[in-house]
Amino acid sequence: MSDTLGAAVIGLGMMGERHAQLWAELPRTRLVAVYDIVPERAQAVADAHGCLAASSLDEALAADGVDIVSVCTDDQSHLQPCLAAADAGKHVLVEKPLAITTADCDAIIAACERADVKLMTGHVCRFDPRYVACHDAVAAGEVGDVVQVFARRNNILASGLRIGPRTSVAYFLGVHEIDLICWITGARVTRVHAEGTSKALASIGADDSILSLIRLEGDAVGCIETCWIIPEGSANSLDARLEVVGTEGRVAARVGGEPFEAASASRSSRPDIVYWTEVHGRVAGALRDQLEHFADCVLDDTEPIVTPAQARHAVQVAEAIHHSLDTGAPVDL
Ligand SMILES: NC(=O)c1ccc[n+]([C@@H]2O[C@H](COP(=O)([O-])OP(=O)(O)OC[C@H]3O[C@@H](n4cnc5c(N)ncnc54)[C@H](O)[C@@H]3O)[C@@H](O)[C@H]2O)c1
Repeated sequence: MSDTLGAAVIGLGMMGERHAQLWAELPRTRLVAVYDIVPERAQAVADAHGCLAASSLDEALAADGVDIVSVCTDDQSHLQPCLAAADAGKHVLVEKPLAITTADCDAIIAACERADVKLMTGHVCRFDPRYVACHDAVAAGEVGDVVQVFARRNNILASGLRIGPRTSVAYFLGVHEIDLICWITGARVTRVHAEGTSKALASIGADDSILSLIRLEGDAVGCIETCWIIPEGSANSLDARLEVVGTEGRVAARVGGEPFEAASASRSSRPDIVYWTEVHGRVAGALRDQLEHFADCVLDDTEPIVTPAQARHAVQVAEAIHHSLDTGAPVDL
């Protein structure tokens, strides 16, 4: 392998375009090929970065010099491109969630193990310094024995309307919180009891809000709040919180309400400046750090900080949330 990696991106919507730009910009990678089931999207991204607009998944994977593949298709369409990439011997960076069933997660993990390629799921919050600070404080024993965890991820209605017809808020937003809680506390979820309701999104058959009570290994309890119908006029399109209370202390992070504010006559907004923001014409922030980390893991043969088992567990908990919604009963994992 050369000292730079060739990348292909599959699925070129909101996230895929960003992956493509980053692979083109990062010092140790280059963008080789892109593919989307909508050919115009692939052509537009290829034109912007001077790479191949592949007309099929196989053509993208077979392009000369592809070492790593970003899978940025919809949640329910991760399986096929991940399996094909692994079978072609490519390292796989797949957007969260790893898949929408544990069976699909197992198939992807097995394919990557068989091919001896690295697999990382893009749990980008692991690269947000606010959550990293919470993790490091808990790991250093600063909160003592964890007693209670609260995590919220609420998004504006446009998000529910855009994604609601394809997947659920537990998968699209909830897996971030599940992964953060488990990573920060070092414990897996052992029991889930969820309640949901659908009003604003009833016509598209999606839950507006899902609240999940959880129990963790080590006997801590927690609550996960996910909602994607907060008003469009909200100053910040994302309102996320995390709090860990222990026998010796407390840590808390707040995401949204960034310290940059832009106001017009009719609206004030606080856009994200942590996850992906342009600084002097280049994408900076947590997503850049995540992609750079994965490239470093491949080039230096080190293990990604999001393990396949952890990404699978987030999906397992989301599955249990839906099982609990269906039955009205708590679910033991
Ligand atoms: N890390 C984060 O914070 C974050 C934020 C948003 C979305 N995501 C995740 O990223 C993924 C993509 O989300 P998005 O918001 O970019 O969606 P999107 O709808 O904007 O883009 C999805 C793209 O994939 C294409 N596509 C669908 N099936 C395909 C297939 N089989 N082969 C090739 N192309 C295909 C679609 O045509 C579309 O262009 C999802 O899994 C989502 O959960 C992550």
